[in-house]
Amino acid sequence: MIIKLPRLIDCHVHFREPGFEHKATMESESVAAKAGGVFTVCDMPNTNPMTTTVEAFKDKVERASKVSDCDIRFFFGLASSENISEFKKLMSPDGAATAPSQLRKKCSGAKVFFDHSTGDMGADKSVIEEAFKVCAELDVPLVAHCEDAQINNDVSTAIKKSNPDVQDVALHSLLRPVASEVKAIEDAVGLSKTYGTHLHIAHLSSGMGLKLVQVAKKAGVNVTCEVSPHHLFLTVDDYETLGTKAKMNPPLRTRDEQEALWAGITDGTVDCISTDHAPHTLEEKNCDDPLSAPSGVPGVETMLPLLLTVASGGWPHPTSDRVRIRVRDSDIVKLCFENPNRIFNLGASDKLRVEVDTEAEWVIKASELHYKCGWTPYEGWKVKGKITNVA
Ligand code: DOR
Ligand code: ZN
Repeated sequence: MIIKLPRLIDCHVHFREPGFEHKATMESESVAAKAGGVFTVCDMPNTNPMTTTVEAFKDKVERASKVSDCDIRFFFGLASSENISEFKKLMSPDGAATAPSQLRKKCSGAKVFFDHSTGDMGADKSVIEEAFKVCAELDVPLVAHCEDAQINNDVSTAIKKSNPDVQDVALHSLLRPVASEVKAIEDAVGLSKTYGTHLHIAHLSSGMGLKLVQVAKKAGVNVTCEVSPHHLFLTVDDYETLGTKAKMNPPLRTRDEQEALWAGITDGTVDCISTDHAPHTLEEKNCDDPLSAPSGVPGVETMLPLLLTVASGGWPHPTSDRVRIRVRDSDIVKLCFENPNRIFNLGASDKLRVEVDTEAEWVIKASELHYKCGWTPYEGWKVKGKITNVA
């Protein structure tokens, strides 16, 4: 059957430009996005230079204007008080001299990291609090990478002390535990409550984290959240076959957590599915110490076929059991178009369409995808649902 979907939005990608063009460029990943039915993306600030000044923001917007396959919007990074001053210059109505409104329109919001991840943009507590305050004043969404720096640090120190020689990548999931996500979400929700900030929690990975969001929503807190395909389709069991290709932050979790995320989709707690598309080269991933390999997986081109496979009643993972949930095509539209369009005020049109053959079966092969990095964690997976046309 041929169905028509709106051109999708991926509200969390790392297109790596400028600074890391050996991993990806706006051009290369936009071609990949389009091939995956995604025509609008929101790019993260951990580039080089980081997107933490008006000048760096302007440079990214200029680069994106030369890319035709995808409408690229940008998050502004808030990792220091200087960054916050720059953000005010960009976003305040009286900042017009520094930043004209066309520039502001390309800003999908701000991003704060509660702990370091790729790019070391972790902010300290006072900066985080100021970020919540300023985003509320400016009425822009604040995306939070919720992992608690103190817990991650304490747990890592303890685990590494008792296992000094262990070099197993699976340890990564223990070094950044669920408790760390939970603590950071508690803090973030508290700050959102205090200042009235629209908090959007990035790549939520645990059932307990999701529960906190559900409770906060019921209490009227202005919070939304997203989950990523790698947490929906992979678990800690996949380290064995994928090795460092399965290393990302927050890390893969257990089957129970995976099932809780799907339940959050069914009950409406999850607002968006976004990929956290974070390409690294295979050479970087294959480094000698697996625990030092960079975190992140590519995903922007495979999100739609993976979700369509579930919507058709299938399950793409080659060895794990199907998660017992029902997802409809209309859920994909809500999670990957309507909700991100509303949350980040993107103004994407639902008139432009992607045609999909829901019966067409195919096998994911990196050699046929368009990523510059040349690999996918879903290599060899059988999926059902293929884009036949864009209109
Ligand atoms: O796995 C991740 N990769 N998590 C992040 O927070 C950053 C991202 C990246 O940029 O590589
Ligand atoms: Zn990310």
